[in-house]
Amino acid sequence: MLRSRIIGCGAYLPEKVLTNDDLAKTVDTSNDWIVGRTGITQRHIAADGQLTSDLALAAAERAVSAAGISVDELDLLILATSTPDNTFPATAAKVQARLGMHQGAAFDVQAVCAGFICALSVADKFLLSGQAKKALIIGAETYSRILDWNDRTTCVLFGDGAGAAVLSAENSVENGAERGILAVKLHSDGRHYDALYVDGGVSSSQTSGHLRMQGKEVYRHAVVNLAAVAGEAMEAAGLAPSDIDWLVPHQANLRIMNAIARRLDLPPEKMVVTVDRHANTSSASIPLALVEAIEDGRIKSGDVVLMEAIGGGFVWGSAVARW
Ligand code: ACO
Repeated sequence: MLRSRIIGCGAYLPEKVLTNDDLAKTVDTSNDWIVGRTGITQRHIAADGQLTSDLALAAAERAVSAAGISVDELDLLILATSTPDNTFPATAAKVQARLGMHQGAAFDVQAVCAGFICALSVADKFLLSGQAKKALIIGAETYSRILDWNDRTTCVLFGDGAGAAVLSAENSVENGAERGILAVKLHSDGRHYDALYVDGGVSSSQTSGHLRMQGKEVYRHAVVNLAAVAGEAMEAAGLAPSDIDWLVPHQANLRIMNAIARRLDLPPEKMVVTVDRHANTSSASIPLALVEAIEDGRIKSGDVVLMEAIGGGFVWGSAVARW
């Protein structure tokens, strides 16, 4: 059976690191508060003039190289971002050109922190339907540009970064088990639009605005919805928690991640954690975590990986893949 297999991943983090102690010099916060409530110790921040497309391109080049393919083989590029370079064209168009990809289709998806799972879902359907054979999906964000750096309730939570994955339509079986994306489940509920949003935008105010959040509301929905959708994805793939080798969650807050792992009956040592060093990089957080766990040898061929994410909207989803 044809499946979409992730054949290479790449990531990029800007050089500049902002620690909790650095932040405590400009807003009324402390390392103890931030670590205790979120698990975050530092975040990476894009340099002046370094755009979402720059981060995306660096991650994309590494993913293509890890996949061992030529850019000419790609026939789909989907960039998940809520911090695009410009209102239009899609940032994907710029990345496509700079990557030297002159064929296929390229477009952005906007599903905030769930963007990577949504991009994965769209690419999976393109590959399974035969409309594309090799897809590059990227999550890239520069949240530092939409944070209110005077609001301690939000500015401590986010960072900049990018991650990418190459998917290939393949018929691949290892030890009698199919490899590739086994199931994807997506949901949204727009009644929660105001729980997490940016108070600007082209149509509403002709400004880019700043991120606003009802933290407790987001926390509550994140735990309940993510545990539920991860359960749905496992069920659709015919798998139980004991079949999962690695949980790669959206890295928003360690407390949320631990609560979900507990609800899913997954031991903490099976969860890949980068939020401590990256903070919340929105659509980039899952591929950044994938790259770390692949490069340090945790995720190996044949392993079953469960991913889940939620973002403003709310929109949330989960995917299960056998590597
Ligand atoms: N430093 C010090 N004190 C702070 C800070 C800070 N950075 N931020 C808030 N406080 C204070 C508050 O002002 C409040 O003070 P008060 O009691 O005097 O009013 C006190 O700490 C407690 O604030 P709460 O908002 O009740 O703290 P809570 O325990 O809910 O933690 C947090 C806040 C970490 C934001 C939590 O609600 C959370 O993690 N929510 C999920 C948000 C999230 O992860 N969003 C990411 C985007 S969505 C996604 O990716 C899933």
